[in-house]
Amino acid sequence: MIQLHDKTFEPYLSEKDIQGIIQKMSVQMSHLENDNPLFIIILKGSFLFASDLLKALPFDAELTFMQIKSYHGTQSSGNIQDVMGLPLNLSGRTLVIIEDIIDTGNTLEYLYNRLKQEKPKHIYIASLLLKPSVFSKNITIDFVGQEIPNNFVVGYGLDYNELGRTLPQIYKLKI
Ligand code: IMP
Ligand code: MG
Repeated sequence: MIQLHDKTFEPYLSEKDIQGIIQKMSVQMSHLENDNPLFIIILKGSFLFASDLLKALPFDAELTFMQIKSYHGTQSSGNIQDVMGLPLNLSGRTLVIIEDIIDTGNTLEYLYNRLKQEKPKHIYIASLLLKPSVFSKNITIDFVGQEIPNNFVVGYGLDYNELGRTLPQIYKLKI
């Protein structure tokens, strides 16, 4: 059990669980090599996941970082600010968005629509976690590591008001 700010969290996915999920995803994503993809790593939450996923992929690839802020506390605010780090020359490219977790999908929808304006050839989406009971957008998530219930989770990049990101495993809020 761990304490972050005012809340208690209990172990949920171990380091071994996470690496097993990533191994499976890397196999599912191996065909992307043919498209010379640009991986777009969404900060801050995806930094550990992206690092392990890209190391597990059987090919070398280009990557870049973008940041979007929309979340406060344990409830999705839906209040998206701006995107930072939009790369140049995305026209005709195959993009792969790397997300830590998709909750309502508000963040993803905003990013997806913004990237589409740049006329890429294709946009794939890979997320370590997905909360299907809250995800409400008409966007295909091409690669999902694991579907989870509508619990608030931290660790392995995910934070509760900026705490918990560097924990090597994933914890869920103790109710
Ligand atoms: P959405 O816009 O509601 O899909 O929320 C997406 C973003 O909110 C993610 O990229 C995370 O940064 C954050 N988020 C959503 N659910 C959780 C959670 O359970 N724990 C920590 N952060 C979360
Ligand atoms: Mg966050």
